[in-house]
Amino acid sequence: MRNVQDIRKDFPILSRKVNGKPLVYFDNAATSQTPQQVIDAIVDYYSNYNANIHRGVHTLSQEATDLYEQARLKIQQHFNAKFSHEIIFTSGTTHGINLVANGFSALLKKGDDIVVSALEHHSNIVPWQMLCERTGANLKVIPMNAHGELLLDAYADLLSKHTKLVFVNHISNALGTINPIKHIIEKAHEVGAAVLIDGAQSSPHIKPDVQDLDVDFYVVSAHKMCGPTGVGMLYGKEAWLKKLPPYQGGGEMIAEVTFEKTTYADLPHKFEAGTPNIAGGIAFGTAIDYMNTIGFQNIAKYEHDLLEYATEKLLQIKGLKIYGTAKHKTSVISFNLDGIHPYDVGTILDKLGIAVRTGHHCAQPIMDFYNIPGTVRASFAFYNTKSEIDALVEGVKKAKMMLS
Ligand code: ALA
Repeated sequence: MRNVQDIRKDFPILSRKVNGKPLVYFDNAATSQTPQQVIDAIVDYYSNYNANIHRGVHTLSQEATDLYEQARLKIQQHFNAKFSHEIIFTSGTTHGINLVANGFSALLKKGDDIVVSALEHHSNIVPWQMLCERTGANLKVIPMNAHGELLLDAYADLLSKHTKLVFVNHISNALGTINPIKHIIEKAHEVGAAVLIDGAQSSPHIKPDVQDLDVDFYVVSAHKMCGPTGVGMLYGKEAWLKKLPPYQGGGEMIAEVTFEKTTYADLPHKFEAGTPNIAGGIAFGTAIDYMNTIGFQNIAKYEHDLLEYATEKLLQIKGLKIYGTAKHKTSVISFNLDGIHPYDVGTILDKLGIAVRTGHHCAQPIMDFYNIPGTVRASFAFYNTKSEIDALVEGVKKAKMMLS
């Protein structure tokens, strides 16, 4: 991997100060920082190509359309989808999940089962609960153990001929657990269920191969992987995307409209009503190029070293407990100090220029499992350093001293 100090120069925000201290950005699971290359792609689009896509014969529109469709091809290649029309641009992971959940309204009936995991983000719970309300299907939950690992025997017991859908995240945002999704997908397919994997937290760390996984749907957000907010991707197998009805009606998603009847456009446009986030889509492609230049194997190895270093150092603080100790986990550490509210720790860390997330991390069932209101979560990226982790450790010690 390129030298980390050299990589950091790509990220203008990393040289700013917060509360008079150098910024230590450890909230990467909420959103990653943006390299100059991606910022430049957005500026370049608005400076030189700004036009609506797929609509005009004029030069600007054609150039913008070419750039946008090139980004789709980059995304297809990165996730190894068979066809570019299996890549649907969305506004993010939540949009992708809701699109699929809405589509399944027409395909489910009372008595069908939907299986989710105990490790899900609210965005992979609530849309399925809403789908159950609409269809009369039942929501079943794969339980977890105290390490934050899913219980696969219990999962196998939940599956039956009634199971129509399984939804699991690839990596837990709150605990960092890497779930055995290949196994989960295989078991679901044995009973004929479709599988959606929430890849919001995995895509910044690993390069998923949707064909090798044989996954039916895979959803990600660009802003977790050095891209802009407000854009993401839904991958769906062609056969499923053809089967699902459109999510939103509007321009772009139609073949022909009359007051008597409307026919829909082919994939991917059937699911892309309205003017999309064009600059965002193009910059998403640039972000993927950028991350591939760093290299996902390099990223995984480097972040694993940071995780081990931080885990060891933090555990030396008496009264600090880490939640999420799965054998396979990514660079996320959720922790609490005995008797101290996570919000108070986060506030003191902020005064020291250290950005962490505190609270339930949109995963209240996980907090309920541990019977805690929330945690302090430090999540590392490939541009973080061990000296920043030292600053975090000193900050936590200071918070403990001030709050005990
Ligand atoms: N899902 C994001 C997080 O985990 C926002 O912080």
